[in-house]
Amino acid sequence: MAQMNFGGVTENVVTREEFPLEKAREILKNETIAVLGYGVQGPGQACNLRDNGFNVIVGQREGKTYDKAVADGWVPGETLFSIEEAAQRGTIVCMLLSDAAQIAVWPKIKPYLTAGKALYFSHGFGITYNDQTNIIPPQDIDVIMVAPKGSGTSLRTMFLEGRGLNSSYAVYQDATGHAKERTLAFGIGIGSGYLFETTFKREVYSDLTGERGSLMGAIQGLLLAQYEVLREHGHSPSEAFNETVEELTQSLMPLFAKNGMDWMYANCSTTAQRGALDWMGPFHDAIKPVMEKLYQSVASGNEARISIESNSKPDYREKLNAELKALRESEMWQTAVTVRKLRPENN
Ligand SMILES: NC(=O)c1ccc[n+]([C@@H]2O[C@H](COP(=O)([O-])OP(=O)(O)OC[C@H]3O[C@@H](n4cnc5c(N)ncnc54)[C@H](OP(=O)(O)O)[C@@H]3O)[C@@H](O)[C@H]2O)c1
Repeated sequence: MAQMNFGGVTENVVTREEFPLEKAREILKNETIAVLGYGVQGPGQACNLRDNGFNVIVGQREGKTYDKAVADGWVPGETLFSIEEAAQRGTIVCMLLSDAAQIAVWPKIKPYLTAGKALYFSHGFGITYNDQTNIIPPQDIDVIMVAPKGSGTSLRTMFLEGRGLNSSYAVYQDATGHAKERTLAFGIGIGSGYLFETTFKREVYSDLTGERGSLMGAIQGLLLAQYEVLREHGHSPSEAFNETVEELTQSLMPLFAKNGMDWMYANCSTTAQRGALDWMGPFHDAIKPVMEKLYQSVASGNEARISIESNSKPDYREKLNAELKALRESEMWQTAVTVRKLRPENN
């Protein structure tokens, strides 16, 4: 465990140097890892573990996704089974189904979670909100988590490129006395770059806040507000879009990613510096109460309730698609289509 200084705060991280793959293989050599679900995280984690020499099987219901697993080399009856059969065969049972599916499938797999097995998650949702999900594991199994900080597709691509996505890890229940080493070995096995410690609750609170906040919800709200104000004051769509989104994503974001926002501020015109320094405060003050309201909604379980209720309805996909269609057809994102076409690399 290495101690690292994050902006003045010391945290423990686990790297591949101190926890090499050989050690992970040794710890998990007698385990059968059963990956339930072959959506996005399922293939990333299952294929990386298989390529790293672990004993992996997949549990997936029949249909298009099952066929994808077959195409990826999982063999029916040998390494590919129904969800129930994989749960029965596995000693580390991995819940890589969608959050709504985990609720639906839980009663069917629970009988197979016998003493000494580990139940593994990549998200704290099912356990943290178990008053709503009813996912209450037996006392005599380990309950562990490794949550890659990115999509399953990136996990796989970065693994194939010899790089690694960072992951958080947590132990919720240690029945065997080996839960932590099982967790870390698993995290190294799926190809994590480094692992940092969290709890199930902190993982899901930060994840739900992030996607509703600066990663997705807040950023769309901010961009649209600026685009609308420019349009309402007579600016053309192309001008409003270029000043709001195109310059941000094409010019600033790569520099901001590489060097930080502090560097960005120090390397723009003094006119931009004066204005940005003056306006960052009012924006912060306007947004912080909304962010706090969002966090409270996550912490109270309200966001989980909304998501479980809406995503469990039979027509949930159609309803989501209708809202996504409205976003796609909005003037700002239709302007984006034309702006992208005009980029030199697309001509
Ligand atoms: N998306 C990410 O990259 C990401 C990143 C970090 C953590 N995570 C976490 O990883 C876990 C898996 O997420 P994911 O995005 O990979 O999930 P996903 O793609 O939404 O999972 C879909 C899987 O669930 C199965 N499924 C859906 N409904 C089902 C049902 N009623 N009965 C049985 N199987 C059903 C699907 O099978 P069918 O195709 O047959 O429906 C498919 O195998 C979640 O806890 C998520 O929060 C995800």
